[in-house]
Amino acid sequence: MTGEEAKRTIDELIDKIERYNYLYYQESKSEISDYDFDQLMKKLEKLEEEFPHFKQPYSPTQRVGGAITKSFDTVEHKYPMLSLGNTYSKEELVDFDKRVQKGLDSNDYEYICELKFDGVALSITYNKGVLERGVTRGDGLRGDDVTNNVKTIRSLPLKLRDPSQLPGQFEVRGEVYMPLEVFNAINSERASKGETPLANPRNTASGTLKMQDSGIVASRKLDCFLYAFLSDEDTVKTHEEGLKRLSKAGFNVSPTYRKCKNIDQVLEYINEWEEKRKALPLDTDGIVIKVNSVAQQQRLGYTAKNPRWAISYKYKAENTSTRLNGITYQVGRTGAITPVAELEPVFLAGTTVKRASLHNANEMERLDLHIGDFVFIEKGGEIIPKVTGVDRDKRQPQASKVSFIERCPECNTPLERKEGEAVHYCPNAEGCPPQIKGKIEHFIQRNAMDINSIGERTINLLYEHDLVRNIADLYDLSFEDIIELEGFRDQSTKNLLDGIEESKNRSFAHVLFALGIRYVGKTVAEKLAGHFGNIDRLSDAGFDDLINVPEIGDRIAESVTQFFSDKNNIEIIQKLKQKGLQFEQSKSQIVKSDALEGKSFVISGVFERHSRDELKKLIKEHGGKILSSVSGNLDYLVAGDKMGPSKLDKARKLNVSIISETDFEAMISE
Ligand code: IVH
Repeated sequence: MTGEEAKRTIDELIDKIERYNYLYYQESKSEISDYDFDQLMKKLEKLEEEFPHFKQPYSPTQRVGGAITKSFDTVEHKYPMLSLGNTYSKEELVDFDKRVQKGLDSNDYEYICELKFDGVALSITYNKGVLERGVTRGDGLRGDDVTNNVKTIRSLPLKLRDPSQLPGQFEVRGEVYMPLEVFNAINSERASKGETPLANPRNTASGTLKMQDSGIVASRKLDCFLYAFLSDEDTVKTHEEGLKRLSKAGFNVSPTYRKCKNIDQVLEYINEWEEKRKALPLDTDGIVIKVNSVAQQQRLGYTAKNPRWAISYKYKAENTSTRLNGITYQVGRTGAITPVAELEPVFLAGTTVKRASLHNANEMERLDLHIGDFVFIEKGGEIIPKVTGVDRDKRQPQASKVSFIERCPECNTPLERKEGEAVHYCPNAEGCPPQIKGKIEHFIQRNAMDINSIGERTINLLYEHDLVRNIADLYDLSFEDIIELEGFRDQSTKNLLDGIEESKNRSFAHVLFALGIRYVGKTVAEKLAGHFGNIDRLSDAGFDDLINVPEIGDRIAESVTQFFSDKNNIEIIQKLKQKGLQFEQSKSQIVKSDALEGKSFVISGVFERHSRDELKKLIKEHGGKILSSVSGNLDYLVAGDKMGPSKLDKARKLNVSIISETDFEAMISE
């Protein structure tokens, strides 16, 4: 074969193989048997060996790897790789939309929604139709040159089939990921060899991209979705046009993107993909919303870190699994013992989770926890994670079962558990430190006596110096007692005492709640205060009197009678009475009905028959709650004249009932 013939054959082979590659990896079609494909590859390899000067940098033989990168060069990005602002809340997306609208001073804009692929960001430059370089994001300004490894990604063109479609120089950006199937196969092989499993596909993709041996990289079958086209030669007018051009030129663009004409359509997209995304062959952790018009993107510009024209919405990670390192036990103010799972830290829905409540002994029994178990955790209501189950497959055979403690971890008193109750209690109410401090903490909190001059640190100091052993002791504190304490000066001492003095103005309902009677929350305290009017009538009430109060059940009634049968509690109440706290309902606090029980309201605008304050008072008197702003938790927006359109809009978007003054009056007259 002459040199010329060899060159021509090499070029033909490259084109052929890359076409089959494209059909297979992008269009899921195979027009050639595996055997024949391998034959073509072998033929190419052989010719490249014979005529090394004709070996092309874009040859598909590069895809099987072999090149070793000792250390990765650091390369500056031509266009910085910014990250996106993100949110977990749909309300914040609505706010984002408002900022876009305001920034553009127009309603005339569209969004492109895409899935947020959970992998590693990569920038790839092309020169004259040939893949030149692949660089990781790094710090956004400089990244690592991982070209040899990037070339193993089979869906990424090494040479464009029709270079005339795109400018001579351009850059594409996308997310390199490890398909779940590949990840799972690696892990089952590791398991069969007794090796520890890899944590997740994202970290594995990231680690793989930085391996020195591109042969191993090739075997790990990374893939890549492209989501951005950048060039200064001829730019596109819209983001969508960029995606379409990339796709036409043979790049792997996920077909899951959608053009949305307004934020409602964006929210629909989000809802639609929340479940559907789980069937995709890769992990996704949210969606990305981008203003479509490039001119509008430029007008909106950037903050120091993020574009103002794009944002990502993250789905709440429903659950994850991690190792149970141990169990600790917390003693609450009522003596209730809460078992807490101490976990191997794991990232879940925006935070690192180290601990999760196990609730009580029954729950521990249900979970059948063993030391060293892998547990599934979930973020219910976002803040406090809970353990939902155990991964039994991962249990070590000799692992011992966890059993509930028998003595209080704080004061060593044997624990008690009433028949039929799930919770264990430490009965040492007067002597167990966390119970004493917990009762005081509860007493001073905002919803109770609202003594904000005292915090947790001060409570610890007061306890350590033997100055308080119960809530009534707070009212005996003197200037001399406090000034002695570490960190207190004249003014801070005076503030602390003023705060205590001022708390004597709190209403009976507040005091009742502050006493910390088990199961008597704020709303129940308001009910009881409204119904009985003063502490003497309440403490004289028997079980039957109590359960006759609307919405007071057996459990509360029993707890209240038990509280008042304890002479320690009576003594404390006597003392608090002497100190001048309110133990009687004043006329204005009377509860008229529970027609609005459990319902929340926002009042906005001007009304015909009531002032806003009158409406608020009525809501409280009928058992309703007042919120300060419209949110997804709100039940009713009471809308008057001249209210702002933004509140109305938001209420409509969030499906909040919007009612008039007349509707409201009807609700409380029923
Ligand atoms: S656009 C300036 N689109 O999310 C906008 N990013 O913090 C640049 N990602 O680093 C990003 N899927 O690794 C964009 N469809 C998508 C994406 C996506 C995943 C990643 C990317 C980026 C991070 C944003």
